[in-house]
Amino acid sequence: MTSKKFSIVIAGGGSTFTPGIVMMLLEEAERFPLRKLILYDNDEKRQDILGEALKILLKERAPELEFIFTTDPKVAFTDVDFVFAHIRVGKYAMREQDEKIPLKYGVVGQETCGPGGIAYGMRSIKDMLELVDYMEEYSPEAWMLNYSNPAAIVAEATRVLRPDSKILNICDMPVGTLRRMSQIVNTTPDQLEVSYFGLNHFGWWTSVKDKNTGYEYLDDIKEYVAEHGYLTQVEVDTQHMDESWQETHKKAKDLLAIEPRFLPNTYLKYYFYPQDEVEHANPAYTRANEVMDGREKNVFSAAQKIIDSGTAKENSFEIDSHASFIVDLARAIAFNTGERMLLIVENNGAIANFDDDAMVEVPCIVGSDGPEPLAQGKIPQFERALMLQQVTVEKMVVEAYIEKSYQKMWQALTLSKIVPNARVAKELLDDLIEANKEFWPDLK
Ligand code: NAD
Ligand code: G6P
Ligand code: MN
Repeated sequence: MTSKKFSIVIAGGGSTFTPGIVMMLLEEAERFPLRKLILYDNDEKRQDILGEALKILLKERAPELEFIFTTDPKVAFTDVDFVFAHIRVGKYAMREQDEKIPLKYGVVGQETCGPGGIAYGMRSIKDMLELVDYMEEYSPEAWMLNYSNPAAIVAEATRVLRPDSKILNICDMPVGTLRRMSQIVNTTPDQLEVSYFGLNHFGWWTSVKDKNTGYEYLDDIKEYVAEHGYLTQVEVDTQHMDESWQETHKKAKDLLAIEPRFLPNTYLKYYFYPQDEVEHANPAYTRANEVMDGREKNVFSAAQKIIDSGTAKENSFEIDSHASFIVDLARAIAFNTGERMLLIVENNGAIANFDDDAMVEVPCIVGSDGPEPLAQGKIPQFERALMLQQVTVEKMVVEAYIEKSYQKMWQALTLSKIVPNARVAKELLDDLIEANKEFWPDLK
């Protein structure tokens, strides 16, 4: 296709998702050739384990590729074309707090929704800005493709505080769900073309069509979802497979019931049925514990095995839909492919009757100048009202960060649909401040 080869830094090089992305880059080497791959993390121990293991693997499978792992930002961000960002500020210890503190008040405790997501947002802003600044200092032409959560708040923060930066915020949930939809109607995800509107982790599909014939699958998929949710028999989405995820896919049935016109994003369950979540939650063992005992252990022990045996021939890492999406996006920019994908972008009319300055999730055509959002027309009042409430929460967290405002943070929590009232919001805030001392600005 072309002789151009690319240089990528993965920020959050010690992430559980890093090996999967590296495996995907190897698989895609012909379609997306690399000359250099860098892993960057601010936790030397995590970086060293995954870095050493991947060094062995890459020496065996891609000896010509220059590979570096480092905790030095200058080394990491110099001479790169893309930054793939997936950092978790406060790591799993803090995700556990985000999930457990709300549960003490009978409120949903979740990584990106409600008080947990608000707390995580307040932690992520500073470090995400730091990454953007490193990129702009050392490789001003580069693009940052960001998975770091909560993507909605990160997107709003960079919109306001780094308006000219080349950062694209993305989410793999619609990608995983689309794989399930394709399974339901017996086709492949690349055959489907969707229309969608919403915020990150807060949206609806209004159309799922066959790319070639134009056949509209929406009713067929709805019929299935009304009975089974997005639960499918075959493991098309290798990422969202744990038992708790199966419950989530099933729950889409109840989400469709309240809005039968559209197909729901699974994350809406935290807003529509919070009491079901709280009832089923174990306040002593939440999703963070499951991941620490599952994915994190698996990835790091696979890495340790490679290091101990000095070879990756017997042990390797898995690829998932999470990895394929970010590589497709980089390809779209690198080769101006004009591929259609869902991204989190500034609305500017894409949703006709929604605020211009809201960060929304809509289909975009992606080429070398970045995304061109596709007009989704007017949305119904029900969704518009829900989205306005949620986007205002996200905006107020960013304002609270900028102004170091306790009052705005209290208002943001009070406005969250998941929080019952201002008193609980205040008690929660005081607990979250205590738990996040190391990470949040001092709120006045
Ligand atoms: P993880 O804790 O395993 O990895 C995150 C890594 O980031 C850690 O090694 C940590 O040391 C590092 N880190 C933290 N702050 C940093 C900083 N300032 N600079 C450099 N490195 C830093 O977490 P994970 O489960 O692998 O998830 C990684 C991130 O990806 C999370 O934010 C998660 O929410 C996000 N994610 C997003 C999507 C999406 O749909 N957008 C999907 C999956 C995961
Ligand atoms: C989905 C979402 C991500 C989220 C992840 C959590 O993929 O799109 O934004 O971080 O789920 O998955 P986990 O397995 O860590 O609970
Ligand atoms: Mn997501």
